Amino acid sequence: MDRFVIDGPVRLAGTVAASGAKNAVLPAMTAALLMDGPSRLEGVPHLRDTETMAHLLRVLGCRVEHVGSTMRIDTTGYDYCEAPYELVKTMRASVYALGPLLAKKGRAKVSLPGGCAWGPRPVDLHLAGMEKLGAQITLSHGYVLAHAPHGLHGAEIFFEISSVGATINVMMAAVLAQGRTTLVNAAREPEVAEIAAALNHAGARIEGAGGYSIVIDGVQELQPLQHTVMPDRIEAGTFLIAGMMTGGSVRVDNCRPDHLRALLEKMQQMGAAVEVGDGWVQVHERAGALRPVDVTTAPYPGFPTDLQAQMMAALAVAPGVSLITETIYPDRFTHVPELRRLGAKIRLDGNIAVITGAPGLSAAPVMATDLRASAALILAAFAAEGRSEISRVYHIDRGYERLEEKFAALGAPIQRQREPGE
Ligand code: UD1
Repeated sequence: MDRFVIDGPVRLAGTVAASGAKNAVLPAMTAALLMDGPSRLEGVPHLRDTETMAHLLRVLGCRVEHVGSTMRIDTTGYDYCEAPYELVKTMRASVYALGPLLAKKGRAKVSLPGGCAWGPRPVDLHLAGMEKLGAQITLSHGYVLAHAPHGLHGAEIFFEISSVGATINVMMAAVLAQGRTTLVNAAREPEVAEIAAALNHAGARIEGAGGYSIVIDGVQELQPLQHTVMPDRIEAGTFLIAGMMTGGSVRVDNCRPDHLRALLEKMQQMGAAVEVGDGWVQVHERAGALRPVDVTTAPYPGFPTDLQAQMMAALAVAPGVSLITETIYPDRFTHVPELRRLGAKIRLDGNIAVITGAPGLSAAPVMATDLRASAALILAAFAAEGRSEISRVYHIDRGYERLEEKFAALGAPIQRQREPGE
């Protein structure tokens, strides 16, 4: 296992490019299961999650090649329809195989993902949506068994909760269903519109993705996917928060400012000078202290839960009292005890974190607990006096491409080391 060693404090400076978006590429990879033949994705980051998804596609019988940032997925002749527990337990997004397999092959067996460190994270909305499309679903021995021997048919589906995963999964299933499907209270995250655009380019008929309701007219077949993955807004946001909290000057290229409005608004309220351009965002050097703010996570275009932990690290060095209310995953606070070890003053009250910011933090050995929590610890270590060691960085490798190299290029004294004793 690897760990990061960081010597703080540091002021970051320079330019960095965001990679392709993890949360867009994973469903794009399973979307290839809807097509016959060789699909091609550009801008695919090298992440543990993209490797896991490639592994799953190979298990299903596809040929997958990931060279540079190009991924080729040849689905010719694939016929196996099971996503095994060993893969699903390491990556919940494996459940994105369900919709495409059901639509294309009329059957799927997908392990139930179970909970995660910050709560139960059910897939009931995915399953209810598939049932509405005519699938027979049973749960057996921890697996979802789904059958649609006569194909899927269009339906009107209302999502009680806005769910990115359920919206994309059901949308992927509906593109090959007979007739019209309407998704109401669909998730509006940019990744939904992105997958819809990729599917439309391949011949699907989807309208309204990115909005409250999506209309899908089923087609009989699709062309292979040819798609360039959008920039990762969460990665970009992580660099911008890092720049802001270290008082540095960081420009992020390959970045969509329109995807980051909620974050940029909060950063400005905190006193950061932010400049945006076509495909880039820059946070400028700042002399004074940051100001405290209140943040509430919400579905897009609200403040993303995936930036909540990183924002908390920044608020820990903004003198005064800030509140973070987590509305998507009320238990998503595994980073709090670790941030406290770095000297952050944070009190939890249900789904609300009360942060009393101080001008600086103090280095400590800490442990990464999940993907975004790990990013928050790196940011906090940049603001901490002394040497911090962050263990279990495999969480980071799930979703950030070469993160330590990118931070090192911004001047951060960060090194990856083997954990001692291995
Ligand atoms: C996706 C992102 C994740 C992000 C999350 C919220 C991917 C691979 N992951 O996860 O990084 O944190 O969106 O922006 O894109 N829910 C149900 N039943 C369901 C599905 C979801 O109750 O069947 C609930 C969840 O518990 C949560 C809320 O809906 O409270 C939103 O979750 P959802 O948008 O589905 O998250 P994911 O797609 O799993």
